[in-house]
Amino acid sequence: MTRIITCLSGKGGVGKTTLVANLGVALAGMGMDVVVLDANLTTPNLGLHLGIPLSPTTLHDVLKGNAKLIEATYLHDSGLKIIPAGISLKDMKGIDSRELPNILLELLGSTDIVLIDAAAGLGREALAAIEAADELLLITNPELPAVTDALKAAKLAEQVGTKVSGLVVNRITKKPHEMTRSQIAGMLEGIDVLAEIPEDIAVQESIAKRTPVVSHKPRAASSQTIRQLAASLIGEEIKIEKPWHHRLFGFLR
Ligand SMILES: Nc1ncnc2c1ncn2[C@@H]1O[C@H](COP(=O)(O)OP(=O)(O)OP(=O)(O)O)[C@@H](O)[C@H]1O
Ligand SMILES: [Mg+2]
Repeated sequence: MTRIITCLSGKGGVGKTTLVANLGVALAGMGMDVVVLDANLTTPNLGLHLGIPLSPTTLHDVLKGNAKLIEATYLHDSGLKIIPAGISLKDMKGIDSRELPNILLELLGSTDIVLIDAAAGLGREALAAIEAADELLLITNPELPAVTDALKAAKLAEQVGTKVSGLVVNRITKKPHEMTRSQIAGMLEGIDVLAEIPEDIAVQESIAKRTPVVSHKPRAASSQTIRQLAASLIGEEIKIEKPWHHRLFGFLR
């Protein structure tokens, strides 16, 4: 059965695209047939994260009825498939994002997991990505404005009738001003915190290299957390390898 999972945040810039690109590569590495789709139709950049900045045929062409979904599907080195969106302003003309759920029907049965990168906000574009999904993965940063917007996103999902599978907290620094896991869980009552991804310079370095951090720096703390999340999404378990200095101090103790 094909699972369609949308990554949604409400607030912009919290890490949706980074998570979708990395989860996609991690799941493909676990033998899953995965498609990642850029439903951020106005400011798409999933292709950039995966080193495919320009594509001759995109989701925009499919939404306009000018191409088939398979023609807008590209194979990444990792085995992951990507459906990018058009990056030029003129691609936006004549687009109706409400067609997205219908277009995705074509993928049902032919793939294990479809990961959708939603647009920021909770407008029409994000709504189409919610409606197209079977389940939602909420993502937030450990600060009040982002958590408030995640809560709003969860309420909208409830109205639409799309299940929220859980919450990912991204860019954790453990500084005193940051919201704690229990404060976040308290605000988003009933939603499980599935992963806490640390603030990690390796993520930014990997974006500059246009390679997801799980392949660029597989041992980085962020990579290990994302791989663990990917495994848990498919009912598997993997252990996080501690950095050498933690292992050394553990041994000395
Ligand atoms: N764990 C992390 N550690 C450090 N930096 C991060 C991390 N996750 C994301 N970032 C930084 O945050 C930026 C924004 O991430 P990303 O583009 O994935 O957010 P987004 O939610 O998709 O944004 P938008 O709402 O605009 O689509 C990245 O370019 C990267 O620099
Ligand atoms: Mg994005």
